[in-house]
Amino acid sequence: MSLEQLLAWIPPGSPDEALARQVNVEQLPAHIAIIMDGNGRWAAQRHLPRVEGHRAGIDSVRDVVETSARLGIQVLTLYAFSVENWKRPRTEVNVLMSLLKRYIRLELSTLLKNNIRFRVIGRAEELAPDVQQELEHGIRKTEGNTGMLFNIALNYGGRAEIVDAARRAMASGIDPATLDEAKFSEYLYTAGQPDPDLLIRTSGEMRVSNFLLWQIAYAEIWVTDTLWPDFRRRDLLTAILDYQKRDRRYGGIKPSPVALGAK
Ligand code: IPE
Ligand code: IPE
Ligand code: MG
Repeated sequence: MSLEQLLAWIPPGSPDEALARQVNVEQLPAHIAIIMDGNGRWAAQRHLPRVEGHRAGIDSVRDVVETSARLGIQVLTLYAFSVENWKRPRTEVNVLMSLLKRYIRLELSTLLKNNIRFRVIGRAEELAPDVQQELEHGIRKTEGNTGMLFNIALNYGGRAEIVDAARRAMASGIDPATLDEAKFSEYLYTAGQPDPDLLIRTSGEMRVSNFLLWQIAYAEIWVTDTLWPDFRRRDLLTAILDYQKRDRRYGGIKPSPVALGAK
């Protein structure tokens, strides 16, 4: 996938096209992670039940998945359900689960068309059997794809993931003296994937809510007041453009142009 693939899908002369043309394809984030938040508030603003916000949020998911794949993003991770979200009313949880099942069923053809590989991160084994079946179907059908990796974080908790990784490391019989950061990350749900370069959160909340705690160590954070059901291609492109202006230092200092020229 490439900028051309994206441009072929955007109406010519539109503001989105102008945004897309500003993106530097040599400097794309390898991994984008998104905390999709604000569905309930979106619904409340319209005097609708909260679940209508979740329903509307599916269109944002579609738009963001296809935009990312066409642009050539390697990994996209969407936070769909946290281990803490079980605290919500049973009816809301049920609607979220059935929306998820429907999304996979209806979007499978789009995932295949865009060469997207679908995966789940989180304690999927604790989900209802019918949900697990649908997820496994999506994973199986897309496992041969070689394009963007699309992780959906479901029954996901960052601390739970670290505990699961520690348990797996211990069970593997690894010599503790040889365990380092690189080795430890091989036990995480995201083993083998690059860490997120860009972490997006919608609806203005300035917190990470137990998302990818290990992996976001040096992610660039971009928060927008836009509520998830209103989030579209233009917002994603805006976030990427902003990311491309950041100066990532990883604790070091920025090399001066003189030093660079002297190399
Ligand atoms: C995000 O929207 C969706 C999930 C967490 C599943 P919310 O449902 O959290 O919406 P707000 O934050 O209450 O507006
Ligand atoms: C984070 O949103 C979880 C997901 C987006 C799935 P929440 O709405 O659950 O987070 P808090 O409660 O505002 O921290
Ligand atoms: Mg929320």
